[in-house]
Amino acid sequence: IKKIAVLTSGGDSPGMNAAIRSVVRTCAFYKIASVGIYRGYQGMIEGDFINLNARSVNNIINKGGTILKSARSTEFRTEEGRRKAYKHLKENEIDALVVIGGDGSFTGGVVFNQEFNFPIVGIPGTIDNDIYGTTHTLGFDTALNTAVEAIDKIRDTASSHNRLFFVEVMGRDAGFIALNAGVGAGAEEILIPEEDLGLDRMLDSLKASRKSGKSSSIVVVAEGDKTGKNVFELADYVEKNLPEYDVRVSVLGHMQRGGSPSCFDRVLASRLGVKAVELLLEGKTNLMVGLVNNKIKPTDLEKAIKGHHKIDTELLRVSDIMST
Ligand code: F6P
Repeated sequence: IKKIAVLTSGGDSPGMNAAIRSVVRTCAFYKIASVGIYRGYQGMIEGDFINLNARSVNNIINKGGTILKSARSTEFRTEEGRRKAYKHLKENEIDALVVIGGDGSFTGGVVFNQEFNFPIVGIPGTIDNDIYGTTHTLGFDTALNTAVEAIDKIRDTASSHNRLFFVEVMGRDAGFIALNAGVGAGAEEILIPEEDLGLDRMLDSLKASRKSGKSSSIVVVAEGDKTGKNVFELADYVEKNLPEYDVRVSVLGHMQRGGSPSCFDRVLASRLGVKAVELLLEGKTNLMVGLVNNKIKPTDLEKAIKGHHKIDTELLRVSDIMST
């Protein structure tokens, strides 16, 4: 292997730049060339490449977003799109690829590897933390800190006005952000896609907390929670059933995906990038690098997509006890 390309794909996450830097610097350390591909697989199809070296990635470890830009490419889902992408890789004498992204990006990588036998290693980059084979995806820790900081601020106004706030956090299919930010910010209730705790339970809990002397409360709701109601409908439902509550809604949205990465995400990105390049140089492929028991370990890329990263139900219990 003489030249490795790196791309970022899917929703951006804090730490992607630190991972790009790590891949490029590791290539430089082993004296092989590195290339950045803009806009994920779409840029691969269009041949939108840039030669990188150790100095091209100066001063990006602290930057949010991704200097290589990101996209969700529909063309890469077609055989023709993937053929065009392969042609560009060959023309540019690229021997292997590091894909930084989530499960959608890895699915594209697996198909591409099967079709063209092209060496690929994945780095898990998504704030959702919904990837098997790693306890932490890149950006999850930063997103949690961002969400907790925002909820702390909401708590100030909730408590000043004796209000109940519903705060929606990201997580279309996964409740990792909701659960961890909810416990970290001291939420009364946490609603996640993985567990249907029922609306009655939420009403009972809110009633009980009023009785116990709490004057304000926060309910953290994941985007994809299981109640069948969105966060505004939930707020209406509570206002109808518990008229003693003055209810407001706050949707945190994409702010959770931005910002300077936490130290944890920067260190993780640096470690994952080194291992990704080293695995490729050892001739390994179709793997994802992840954090397991605080060591960087490879997992089969297909397993990373298909395996289920289970939510820690113990945290739900902790949350219950804390809202006593
Ligand atoms: O996958 C990361 C994520 O932030 C999800 O939590 C969220 O549902 C989705 O991306 C939003 O995607 P988009 O930026 O395309 O609206």
